[in-house]
This record gives sequence, structure tokens and C-alpha cells, in this order.
Amino acid sequence: MSAAATLPGPSVTALMQEVLLLDEDFVAIAAMVREASGIVLGQNKRDLVHGRLRRRLRALRLLSFSDYRAMLEGPDGAEERVRMINAITTNLTGFFREPHHFEALGDRVLPALSRDQRRLRIWSAGCSSGEEPYTIAMTLHRAMPDLDTWDAKVLATDIDTDMVAHGAAGLYGMERVAAIPAELRRAHVRRVDASTVAMGDELKDLIAFRSLNLLGPWPMRGPFDAIFCRNVVIYFDKPTQRVLFDRFADMLKPGGILFVGHSESLYRVSERFTHLGRTIYRRVK
Ligand SMILES: C[S@@+](CC[C@H](N)C(=O)[O-])C[C@H]1O[C@@H](n2cnc3c(N)ncnc32)[C@H](O)[C@@H]1O
Repeated sequence: MSAAATLPGPSVTALMQEVLLLDEDFVAIAAMVREASGIVLGQNKRDLVHGRLRRRLRALRLLSFSDYRAMLEGPDGAEERVRMINAITTNLTGFFREPHHFEALGDRVLPALSRDQRRLRIWSAGCSSGEEPYTIAMTLHRAMPDLDTWDAKVLATDIDTDMVAHGAAGLYGMERVAAIPAELRRAHVRRVDASTVAMGDELKDLIAFRSLNLLGPWPMRGPFDAIFCRNVVIYFDKPTQRVLFDRFADMLKPGGILFVGHSESLYRVSERFTHLGRTIYRRVK
């Protein structure tokens, strides 16, 4: 055997580290992502796209982004397109994130509901790994001692199928639940092992997790008493936001409440809501 043959060649992993994301590939991938999800990827997101999709190339043992594009655009690309969107979405979330929303829900929105029909519907649109809908469910339990006499449901949806599965499993690292007030943790969070906790069945029973693209058709009828769509539309352009908020208004009861993220606003985007303060809106039209 020659000396050259015994030399180890570069591993696939080493090769992958050198894979470049060429401009034409970035532009084509960004267009695909935008069409599929509404997420706008400007040039400032190039490193993010490179880093996140390089892992997909590695898993598929592909050596260039143009091969990856060919796969995505090919007849069997549907499954990989789902994985690509899962890799691209930013899923940052947490229990009791932006806690004033849950104070408003528990102290103002829920007490104002009509007791006649005892029907309550809340939608967590863009729920990521589930912390938001579980926080809503804990708030319902805390604010409504007669919750078991209500027909109450929380719909939790996200485009990212991995996140929806995570939320439905209801398992979290111990450090994630530190943000839950102690009395709610005691009531609703069960220890599984040294590093994992599980959400209680009384919370899981309230929530239906579904994968749903906010840009696509919505199979549910509603109407909802409140919608949480927080830290989602920051990734969309204004025309997409306009259409989405209009659809949210149609899905809410008259007077229903919309919660948006801390850096989001309906100013010049929708006239169907009035601002109640601190990123909380009421449907008026
Ligand atoms: C930053 S997380 C926000 C999670 C949670 N609402 C919060 O504020 O903590 C944004 C979520 O929006 C989801 N998302 C992005 N585009 C979407 C779309 N077109 N349809 C549904 N969900 C989408 C992402 O998958 C991600 O999980």
C-alpha cells in the first residue's frame, strides 16, 4: 500500500466546515423560506442561515448548498422543506415571558368574560416549545377556581413541527421552570428526574398542540376570546403582518384581546384594534 493511501483523507465533517454559502444559494433559499413561512431573511441573516443549514447538509451528507437546493426543489423535497423551516425558525421563548400579559389575562380579561356560556377559547399562535400555552393554562387555573365547570381550551400552534412535538410532550429542563412562580410550580410541575420536569395533566388536558402555518389556511372555527401572537410577526414584512392581523380580528370575538410581543405594534398595520397599553389590543371592528 502506498503512503498516500494510508493517509487519512479529510472527513465529511471537515469538508462541511469549508462549505460556502454562495450568494445565489442564499438568495434562492431565502426566497423559499419567505414563500413557505413569511420569514424574511435579509443579508444580515446570512451567517444564521449558513450555521443552521450546514447541520442539515451534514445530516444529508451533501457537500454544497447548490446540491441542497436541488434536493429541496426536487420531487422528494417536501419533507426536507419542513426540516429546513424547522432549522430556520427562531424559537426563543420562556415560561411567564413578558409577565404583564398574564397579569392582564388573569386580572382583567378572564374576570370580564360572560359567565352565561362558560365557553373560553385562547390561541397561542406561534407557541414555540410550549412555554407560552402552559403559562396561559396555569393562569387560567389560578384565576378561575371554577375552571372545571367551563368548556375551556387553549389552542397552541406553530409552523415548526419539532417545537409542536416538544410542547405536546410537556417535558422541560429544570432550569426552564425557575421562571414559574413557586406556588404554581408546586401545583402543576412534576419532577421526572434530576434534570427534567413534566407539566401536569390538568394543564396538558387544556391544550391542543397542532402544527399550523399562519400564512396558510386555518382549519379552526373560533371565535377566540384572546389570541397571543408574540414575537412572531417581527420576522414578517408589513404586508404579511397586515393580512395576518386582519385574519386575527376575524377570528376574535368582538371585543376580544390580542397580545403581541414587546417590540411589535399594530400602529399603521391594523385599524381593527384599539391599544389598551403595553402591547395589549382589543378588537373594535
Ligand atoms: C420567537 S418564537 C416566539 C414564541 C412565543 N410566542 C414567545 O413569545 O415566547 C417565534 C415562533 O414563531 C414561529 N413561526 C414563525 N413563522 C411562522 C409561521 N409562518 N406560522 C406559524 N408559526 C411561525 C416559529 O417557529 C417560532 O417558534
